[in-house]
Amino acid sequence: MKKILVTGGVGQIGSELVMELRRVYGAENVVCGVNRTQPGGRLKESGPWEIVNCTEARQVADVVKKYDIDTIYHLAAILSAVAEAKPNLAWNVNINALYNVLEVAREANCAVFTPSSIGAFGSSTPLDNTPQDTIQRPSTMYGVTKVAGELLCDYYYKRFGVDTRGVRYPGIISNETLPGGGTTDYAVEIYYEAIKQKKYTCNLPAGTFLDMMYMPDALKAAIDLMEADPAKLIHRNAFNVTAMSFDPEIIAAEIKKHIPEFVLDYNVDKVKEGIANSWPNSMDDSAARAEWGWEPSYDLSAMTADMLEVLGKKLK
Ligand code: SER
Repeated sequence: MKKILVTGGVGQIGSELVMELRRVYGAENVVCGVNRTQPGGRLKESGPWEIVNCTEARQVADVVKKYDIDTIYHLAAILSAVAEAKPNLAWNVNINALYNVLEVAREANCAVFTPSSIGAFGSSTPLDNTPQDTIQRPSTMYGVTKVAGELLCDYYYKRFGVDTRGVRYPGIISNETLPGGGTTDYAVEIYYEAIKQKKYTCNLPAGTFLDMMYMPDALKAAIDLMEADPAKLIHRNAFNVTAMSFDPEIIAAEIKKHIPEFVLDYNVDKVKEGIANSWPNSMDDSAARAEWGWEPSYDLSAMTADMLEVLGKKLK
C-alpha cells in the first residue's frame, strides 16, 4: 500500500484530495500536511496530520522519514491573483518549496504529483484548443512559477529518475473549501451567492471564456495519473486536462435554470481580467486522454445541479 503525504492539505484541493486518498489507500496511509492552519473536523479526525512548511526542506524530510512516505502530492502553492500582489512569496512557495520537495523525493525515492495550471500559458499561446505542446510565455508571476515548475519536475525525472507527474488544472469548482486568491474563483463564488443572495457581482467581464472542472474530476485526474502505467506516458509535466469551458453569462444561464430570479452583474477587476485574457479559452486534453485514459464525468449542467444541491443544504 502507498504511504502518501499531501502538502497544502487544508487548501481547496488538498482538503478533498486527502479524504479521497484515505478512502482509496486507507486513512492511516495518508498524511495531511499543513503549513499553519490546523485541519479541522473529519480531516483531522480521520487520519494523521503534520505541520510541513515546504519552504523548510528539513520539515519535508522529517515527515517523509517518519511515515516512510513513497508518494507526495505537492499541493502547497500560491494562486494567480495573490502571486501578482506578492511575487516574492509566490516564487518562494511555488518554486523554492517545490525544489525542496523534489530534493527530498530524490533522496527518499518518492513519486511526486505537482499541479500546473492553465496559468502556464500566455497571450502568445494559441488560446483556442490550446495544444499540449505549444508556446508557454506567461506574463504573470504565477505563470512563470508554473512553467519553471513543469521544467524542474521534468528535469528531476530525466536527470534523477524521480517519478514526477502533473496536470495543468483549469479553474476548479468545489463546495468544501473556498479557493484563495485565484482568477477563476468567481466560478465558485457565483454558486455560493446564488444560494445566499440570488445575485452575484462578477469580477471578470462577459465573454471571458476559461477552462473549468468540478472537484470530483480534479481528484480523479490526480489519482489516475499517479496510478497510470509509466510505460504509456510520453509526457510527464504537465498534461492539459479540462472538463468544460464557459464565460460568466453561460454559467449564470445554467444557474437560472434552477434559480430563475438569479441576477448577474459586473464590477470588473482589471488585474484579474488581464490575467484571464492571457489564459486559454479552451485546452486540448487529447494527450491526457490517450496516455492515461483521462475522461471527465461532470459537464456544466451536471456540476451546477450538484453544486446547488450541496450548497443549498450546507448554507441553509
Ligand atoms: N485557479 C487558478 C487561479 O485562478 C488557476 O490555476 O489562479
